[in-house]
Formats: sequence, C-alpha cells, structure tokens
Amino acid sequence: MAQKLMRVGIIGGGLMGREAASAFARWFVLNDFPVRAELIAVCDLQQNLLDWFKQIPTVKLLTKDHAELLRSSDVDVVYVAVPHNLHEKIYLDVLNAGKDLLAEKPFGIDLAAAQKIADVAKKSGRFVRCSSEFPFLPGPQRVLQAVQSGKLGRILEIHSGFHHSSDMDPTKPVNWKRQVKTCGEIGVMGDLGMHAVHVPFRLGWTPIRVYAQLQKIYTERPDGKGGMAPCDTWDNAILHTEIQIGGDEIPMRLEMKRLAPGETNTWYLEVLGTQGGVKYSTKEPKTLWTFQREKEQLWQKTDLGFNGPFATITGGIFEPGFPDCFQQMWAAYATERANTLENKFGCVTPDEAVLSHRVFAAALESQRAKTAVAVK
Ligand SMILES: NC(=O)c1ccc[n+]([C@@H]2O[C@H](COP(=O)([O-])OP(=O)(O)OC[C@H]3O[C@@H](n4cnc5c(N)ncnc54)[C@H](O)[C@@H]3O)[C@@H](O)[C@H]2O)c1
Repeated sequence: MAQKLMRVGIIGGGLMGREAASAFARWFVLNDFPVRAELIAVCDLQQNLLDWFKQIPTVKLLTKDHAELLRSSDVDVVYVAVPHNLHEKIYLDVLNAGKDLLAEKPFGIDLAAAQKIADVAKKSGRFVRCSSEFPFLPGPQRVLQAVQSGKLGRILEIHSGFHHSSDMDPTKPVNWKRQVKTCGEIGVMGDLGMHAVHVPFRLGWTPIRVYAQLQKIYTERPDGKGGMAPCDTWDNAILHTEIQIGGDEIPMRLEMKRLAPGETNTWYLEVLGTQGGVKYSTKEPKTLWTFQREKEQLWQKTDLGFNGPFATITGGIFEPGFPDCFQQMWAAYATERANTLENKFGCVTPDEAVLSHRVFAAALESQRAKTAVAVK
C-alpha cells in the first residue's frame, strides 16, 4: 500500500514529547497502515532534551524557539506538550502558521482559553484533535462495544475515573502541575479529567449538572532548593453528575485523583445496566469483566489480547501497555486526518475538549457554592 507521509514537529520535548517520539520511531509496528509518520523537528527550552532527540535520524531541526519550528515548510502536523498556561498561545501560533495540531489536554488552561482555541481551529480549517490515549486499549474498546450493543438493558449508573498515587509522598518536589498559575485553577481536573470523560462524551453522555467534592491535600511541597513552595491546585476531584439516557436521568460519577492510595496510573470505566454490565481497569490490564443477569447473576472475566483498533504485527496473545495505546491514539489521529478512520474510535475533538472545560468550570462553581450546578 502506498503510504502518505505525515511530517511531525514536537513543541515540548518533556515526558510526553519523548513518548510521542517513541511512537513514531516504531511506527512499522502498525500493519498495512495508510500513513507513515516521521518526526522532523523538535522545540524545547532545555538543551539536554534537545540533545536527547539527536539520536533520531529523521530529526532535521532542533530549536528553542517554537516560531522557528513553525516556519519550517517540512512540518505538516505539530504535537504540543507544554505546561497548561502556554497552551492557548502556542496552539494559536500553530494554527496561524497553517499547521495541523494534536494538542495535549486540557486544551487550554480554562474554559475561555479552550473556547478561543476551538473557535480559531474551526476558522482555520486545520485538523485539530486533543490527546487521550487510554480508550485505544482493547479493554475500553470492549466497554464501548458492550454499551453500543444495547445488551446492558437500562443503564443504572456509570463510574469513570483516573487515579494517581505519587503525590501520596509529601516529599515529592513541587512542579508546574501543582500550581494554579501554570496548571490552572481546575488543577487535577485539567491534569486527569480528559481521561475520564473521553469515552462517556463519545457515547453522548453529557453531564447536565454536577456536584463537586474537590480537595487540596498537600498545600506545600519541597521546592528542590532546600525550601518549600506553595501547591495551590486541587489534588482530588469527585464529580457527581447526571446525564440523560432515553429521558431518564442517570448518575455518572467522575473521579480524578492525585492521591489515590496504591494507584500508580489507573484508568477505569464501569457501566452497569439492568441486563448486563461491563467494567475495565488498567489495574488488571488484561481483564475485562462482564456481568450477566440470568437465573443466577454472573460476573465473568475475559483475558484480552493485544487487539487495539489498528492492526499491528504484535502477536494477538501479547499484552499492550501505555506506549501501545499512545501509538494507537496517534494512528487514530493520522487516519482521521487522512479521512480513512471509517467507523473506528477517534481522538478527542475540540468540541469535546470545550465540553470538558464546561463541566470543570461548573465543578469549581459547585465547590464554591456547595451545591449542584448546571453545566452551561
Ligand atoms: N496524555 C497523557 O497521558 C499525558 C500525560 C502527562 C502529561 N500530559 C500533558 O502533556 C503536556 C505536557 O506535560 P508533560 O508531563 O510532558 O510536561 P513536562 O514538564 O515533562 O514537559 C513540558 C516540556 O515543555 C517544555 N517547554 C516549556 N515551555 C516551552 C516553550 N515555550 N517552548 C518549548 N518548550 C517548552 C519544557 O522545557 C518541558 O520539557 C501537558 O498539557 C500535560 O497535561 C498528558
């Protein structure tokens, strides 16, 4: 098959920028894939990170100035993975330079920024999506299929969340994700919320109101220079929301936590209905749980293989992990950009990203007013 070339630039070569480089470096894992991704240019402020990217033979441009990367006619698509306070400026610069964009979540530091980015994206006509990779694992895909099959009966409730635990350690040094000025007032919701809402939103489950329980747990952390620095973002968020399915109001609980004892990086989704149920968590990455109501009520577990939405050369009985779902997400981006996604699951759209911010803004208001707040 003749492959189209997608030439990528990365702005922000930190944790996620390097993860993206790894996905492109082993792109040949994708079988009979219509697009070839090639990393061409990287921008970061830190020289040691730019030096790291020198080991990638396709990289022609390393720069500390993102405007220089955006001037390059060799770059078609830009992946931006920088602190949240820089999203609006850099995403708009990418669009104004005429490039396509895979943005990192939360797609702007707040609702106003997200709305502005989405408006400019629409006017620009560029192909813009936002990052959220876990739904591309086989387990979440099976949850989606179970819901779409209609076999769960009337939906009783939905639980979706993402839990971290490294902040349980009070000696963990501060970083930009712990401060409002760089992470945003929404705090953990901006960090982890997109992971919890991507699949529910795609199923049409839009919260109509939210009651939020937000917690600030450690309000200062070591600054790495012998002193302490303030941490003013929300650490844990539990959002009790209601959605509408077939005229009924159904509870959907969304959880995002930095302090969840024992959970290094746990994404989960659980949908319970009157006839059936389905649940998946990366805690047990191979396992899909399905519920059946027969004469007896059964929870059954199925061992899942490697089968992500996009075919790979990896054996079907092997186990997928984070780098695999991240690459599958990029495969979805590349395929949708080339108009060949067909009925496969796609990346978060700008409208979905704005909707997530509307929910998080309502959550902040709910926390302040100590009452349920309508999502506007
Ligand atoms: N999808 C996911 O699973 C996931 C996981 C972690 C983080 N993220 C998101 O990715 C983004 C980045 O997070 P991270 O964990 O990679 O952060 P990071 O701190 O590891 O990396 C950010 C990088 O941006 C660079 N940078 C800062 N200002 C810059 C500028 N003006 N020009 C170029 N580079 C600049 C920094 O030097 C740093 O290397 C955030 O939006 C975050 O929410 C997504």
